[in-house]
Amino acid sequence: MITINENYLKLEQNYLFSKIGKKVEEFQLKYPSKNLIKLGIGDITRPIPRTILEAIHKAIDEQSSISGLKGYGPEQGYGFLRKVIVKNEYSKFDIQEDEIFISDGAKCDTGNIVEIFSKENVVGIMNPVYPVYEDTNKMSGKENIVYLIANENNEFKPDIPKEKIDIIYLCFPNNPTGTVLNRQELTMWVEYAIKNKCIILFDAAYEAFIEGDEIPHSIYEIDGAKQVAIEFKSFSKTAGFTGLRCSYTVIPKQVIGYTSEGIKIQIHNLWKRRQSTKFNGTPYIIQRAAEAVYTEQGQKEIKENIEYYKENAKIIREGLINKGYKVIGGKHAPYIWVKVPKKYTSWDFFDILLEKYGIIGTPGVGFGEYGEGYFRLTAFGSRQDTIEAIKKIDEQEKV
Ligand code: MLT
Repeated sequence: MITINENYLKLEQNYLFSKIGKKVEEFQLKYPSKNLIKLGIGDITRPIPRTILEAIHKAIDEQSSISGLKGYGPEQGYGFLRKVIVKNEYSKFDIQEDEIFISDGAKCDTGNIVEIFSKENVVGIMNPVYPVYEDTNKMSGKENIVYLIANENNEFKPDIPKEKIDIIYLCFPNNPTGTVLNRQELTMWVEYAIKNKCIILFDAAYEAFIEGDEIPHSIYEIDGAKQVAIEFKSFSKTAGFTGLRCSYTVIPKQVIGYTSEGIKIQIHNLWKRRQSTKFNGTPYIIQRAAEAVYTEQGQKEIKENIEYYKENAKIIREGLINKGYKVIGGKHAPYIWVKVPKKYTSWDFFDILLEKYGIIGTPGVGFGEYGEGYFRLTAFGSRQDTIEAIKKIDEQEKV
């Protein structure tokens, strides 16, 4: 008789965005002519920049010759991509090329990394939170989860825990609340991690939305972070790769974990070992596309798209504030976290906006119980849809 991994039974029945997708599909079957405004899942809508497309075409054409053909690539990524990542993002922190692991998505890496840590670890996860961190810990049977509560009292930035935690997930700019940590706040987390021999898994997927240099763009800007932090970065929202799939994980060799006997082990080596067995690399064509992001023209083009989304965030943020809503995020971040009118739960608000106006957002409670009473909108829609949605949300309140 086949027995299953019963940890899966501890999960919500459906992944948040699958549940929303199903509701929307049912709605569309019922009202096929209704126009939908999609501000739910953070998926890009601007076309892929020309320089990136040219790199893809070129890499495809290379495959037509024996000399240009690429089969299996290095599991940790091609040297040409790791090199430009280090040069453009990490040389100032003295991160080496072999400390960069190319992958096919920060979602996969933040999810897969749980395997290299033992079940006994105490894991600190924000609430509300991007559901992947919690789901994947539960899937792997980790039961010691401490919720780092983010709510109005702490401006949706969790307090430094009083208890001892071994692994801490931080995502800043935050998904779902759009909050950011300043240098002093991030320093407190790094100091906590050093003091408690803990690892910080720092999801920096939305770093490109930070304006100026006051807010740290990388956790390695903080002294000591190279001993305790792993950073996850993605081309998805930065350069339009949600469909192309490319990301990377930075694991400095100083980051260590311990065996049950207290022997020090490099986390870098464990992850390398895991990826070599389980991952065959991001496609060459896609890695060439990611390389093109770092050309002068590539940077110009991706920045135009980021500015477009930032302007959407501003329109949502200021539009709703002007209408009297309490709004968090939307500055240095593509997510806007809105307090729903008291009479509704966040799923009520979702249903009303969908059924009345065809607007799709994400109910806060989908990110954890402390998300109840809030609603997430993304800045990744088209300009027209963004403006239209704000107008309609305002009308809704006047009904
Ligand atoms: C989100 O909407 O939270 C993200 O787009 C999901 C993801 O990046 O996987």
